[in-house]
Amino acid sequence: MVSIEPAAPTATEPEEQQTPAVTEDPTVWVRKDLLDTDTLASEEIDLVLETADAMAEVRERPVGRVATLRGTTVVTLFYENSTRTRASFEIAAKALGADVINLAAAGSSVGKGESLIDTVRTIEAVGADILVMRHPNSGAAALAARHTEASVVNGGDGSHAHPTQALLDLYTMRRHVGDLAGRKVVIVGDILHSRVARSNLWALQAAGAQVTLCGPATLLPQSLRSLPGYEGPGGCEVTTDLGEAVTGADVVMALRIQRERQDHGLLPSLREYIRQYQVTEERLARANPGALVMHPGPMNEGVEIAPEVAHGLRSVVEEQVTNGVAVRMAILYLMATARRR
Ligand code: CP
Repeated sequence: MVSIEPAAPTATEPEEQQTPAVTEDPTVWVRKDLLDTDTLASEEIDLVLETADAMAEVRERPVGRVATLRGTTVVTLFYENSTRTRASFEIAAKALGADVINLAAAGSSVGKGESLIDTVRTIEAVGADILVMRHPNSGAAALAARHTEASVVNGGDGSHAHPTQALLDLYTMRRHVGDLAGRKVVIVGDILHSRVARSNLWALQAAGAQVTLCGPATLLPQSLRSLPGYEGPGGCEVTTDLGEAVTGADVVMALRIQRERQDHGLLPSLREYIRQYQVTEERLARANPGALVMHPGPMNEGVEIAPEVAHGLRSVVEEQVTNGVAVRMAILYLMATARRR
C-alpha cells in the first residue's frame, strides 16, 4: 500500500537520508514532467495506479481531503475546452491541500499576444510548482517543459498525447478486469486524430494487453504499423472491420467522432460512419461476456456509441470520470514529492 503522507525527515536523520539522490529505480517517481505514456516503464505505471488506490481511499473518507500538498501551487493552463480534465485536476489538487490557480487562454494575456514560452515563464515566476496544460498543438507541453523549472503535466496536446486519460483508463480497466496481460482491448473511432488512442496504446502495451485499433481507413494512420510497439509485448492489430475487432474483446473503447472531420472529406457521411462503426448492443454480443464499454468523453450519443450502450450495464464511462480524480491526485502527489527530494 502506498502511503500518502509525505516522508517528513526527522531531526535525527542524517542529511543524505533527508534528500535522497535521483535514482533509476522505476518504483520511485523521479520525473520532472509527465508528457506521454510512451516513456513510462510498466513499474512506473504500476506506481501511479497503486498510488491512485491510496487516493481513492482518501476520497472515500468522510472529509475526502488531506493536507499533504500544502504549500504546493498547481496552475491549470487550458488553451482548449475541457470539462473532465480541468475539473478533476482542480478537485485533485484541492483534495491534497494544494493551492490552485486556473487560467484559460481566453482570459489571460495570451489574448494580448503573449507567447506560450513567456506565459509559462510568467507562471513559474509567480510561484507555480506544477503546471497542468492543454493546448491544440502537438508538442506544446514538451516545449513548455523545456522552458520552465515547474513540473509540466500534459493535459492533452493536439492529436499527440493525453497521458492522464490513458492512466485513468488503465486504472478503470484494472479495477474490473484485473491483470490486463493478454486481454483484448479495442479502440474504435478516429484513431488518426486521437491523443487518447495514442497514449492508451503505449500504456496498454506496457501492461501486456492485446490492442486492436479500428476505424475507417481514412481515420487510421498509415504510419501505424511502423510505430515502435506495433508488435509490442501484447501485440497490436489494426482493422477497418468493427465486427471482427469486437469478437472476443474484454474492453471496447469508443472515441468521439469530431464532426469537423467530415469537412475534410475523411468521412463519406455521418450516417455511413454510424452504420459501420457505432458501438451497439448487437455488435457487443460478439465481445466476451462482461466486456467493459468505455469512452473518454465527451460523447456524441447516437453517433459513435448507442445511447443504450453509453448508459447500459457494461458502461463504465461515469466511473472513468470519478477515477480521474484519484489518478490525477496520484500524479500530483508523485510529482510534488519528487520535487521535494
Ligand atoms: N476526456 C477528456 O479529455 O475530456 P475533457 O475534454 O472534458 O477534458
